[in-house]
Amino acid sequence: MDRPPLLELVGIRKSFGGVAALTDVDFTLCRGEVHGLVGENGAGKSTLMKIIAGVHGEYHGTMRIAGEVMRFRSAGDAKAAGIGMVHQELSIVRDLSVAENVLLGVQPLNRFGLVDYPTMYRIAGEQLHRLGIDVDPRLPAGDLPLGLQQLVEIARVLFSGARIIILDEPTSALSPPEVERLFGLLHRLRDEGHSLVFISHFLDDILRVSDTVTIFRNGRRIETAPVPQIDKHWIIERMIGAGHEELEESYTGEIFLDSKPQAPVVLAAQGLSSAGSFADVSLDVRAGEVLGIYGFMGSGQLELARALFGKLALDAGSVRIGGVVAHLRNTAAARRAGIAFVPESRRAMLFHMEPVYKNISISILERISWLWVRPEAEREIAARHVKSLQIRPPLVDRPLGTLSGGNQQKVALAKWLTYLPKVLLLSEPTRGMDVGAKDDVLKIIKSLRAEGIGVVVVSAEPETVLSLADRILVMKRGRIAQEFSGEVVSKDRLLAAA
Ligand SMILES: Nc1ncnc2c1ncn2[C@@H]1O[C@H](COP(=O)(O)OP(=O)(O)O)[C@@H](O)[C@H]1O
Ligand SMILES: [Mg+2]
Repeated sequence: MDRPPLLELVGIRKSFGGVAALTDVDFTLCRGEVHGLVGENGAGKSTLMKIIAGVHGEYHGTMRIAGEVMRFRSAGDAKAAGIGMVHQELSIVRDLSVAENVLLGVQPLNRFGLVDYPTMYRIAGEQLHRLGIDVDPRLPAGDLPLGLQQLVEIARVLFSGARIIILDEPTSALSPPEVERLFGLLHRLRDEGHSLVFISHFLDDILRVSDTVTIFRNGRRIETAPVPQIDKHWIIERMIGAGHEELEESYTGEIFLDSKPQAPVVLAAQGLSSAGSFADVSLDVRAGEVLGIYGFMGSGQLELARALFGKLALDAGSVRIGGVVAHLRNTAAARRAGIAFVPESRRAMLFHMEPVYKNISISILERISWLWVRPEAEREIAARHVKSLQIRPPLVDRPLGTLSGGNQQKVALAKWLTYLPKVLLLSEPTRGMDVGAKDDVLKIIKSLRAEGIGVVVVSAEPETVLSLADRILVMKRGRIAQEFSGEVVSKDRLLAAA
């Protein structure tokens, strides 16, 4: 199985605004291989692939394809050189038909030089059929469910004739049978001589589909190995490093959910629906527990969290907090009812130009605005939190925007420690953090739980839910599909339920 190198990257360095995203990365992709890329969020995988795909033209280092030095200035350059990439963020054109999306830029023309619609629909239909999708190619792509949109985008790249195909977390919105078909097709393309890069968080998938695996951590390539010689444990060790036992368990494990069915219910939701997002959701949140809500991207869990904070209107259902009916008409009403929310985009909740101490005290001010708050007092409270949460650097006067994402998240959580809400909703609380920051945030969330508040963690990452939750609800197509409580649960079981 000797495969000659096709694409070689040597000494790649790339930074964004002075922050290093890639440091001295060497990477080789061979002819006729599927190369799996793994690493935690923020490790640099997408950035490296975007260099190959011509999205980032500014970088240090050398790229060779079939021995020839290449430097792409645009995505068009890379495409012309035979490189196709399915990006992590969907880039489907919602208003165009499915067929136009599949054949974007290569629509067949008739003898008048106009788009030959019948032929286009036929070809697109055939290509989608190879992926096992039977959908009317004439439909607007935006009308399809998320999983099918992702498949349409994958089809476009797979059938574009590219010899190097990069798939950046392509399965996040796919169901297990869809993933099966995709893998079959990837292997066929490989056997025809294409080279593929496959990025995924799902380690079992990586091991099943790849011939070679490369691990990234903090902007560096850690190691590359042929799949027959490695296993899941080998990957995890290199991916998160030593000394992070709890995180490690959440990747391999068998987690025992220490649920507390006797604890008092702080929030009880009954029959919640919001058209197009979720339907008939009933759940209880208990004092002193972390309730994890897991689902594939687009399963409705993020929308549910937004609705519980009054940011998304409910069409039906009721919410009781501490036994009292709460009308969550808007975020102010939700706050008054004792609900706090840290959304997936922390940017929405924080003030980047303001100093750290202001960001910590802001919710305190909201509650006691009738009091005269002395700036020294604000600073004092903030300084205590900065110390206990190990926020780096420990300077309360620094503008928040100068801190790393993980430290910003700690600031976002810190303010809830002083004046505890009854229920704290956290959406993707550790996404994009390095391992150290992730561990710190896990500790903060657990100490909030110890204060007796009900914490709800909503995520599309199984590890996030497994590393935090005492009880887990799995959502599927906007509904609760399964509950795990007081039992041993693993990533496989979560995925199977989703
Ligand atoms: N366009 C960008 N601007 C600024 N920073 C970025 C940009 N893209 C990525 N980064 C940063 O580069 C690092 C690597 O990110 P990324 O390549 O997306 O990681 P991964 O794909 O492994 O999750 C992260 O710290 C991220 O915040
Ligand atoms: Mg990425």
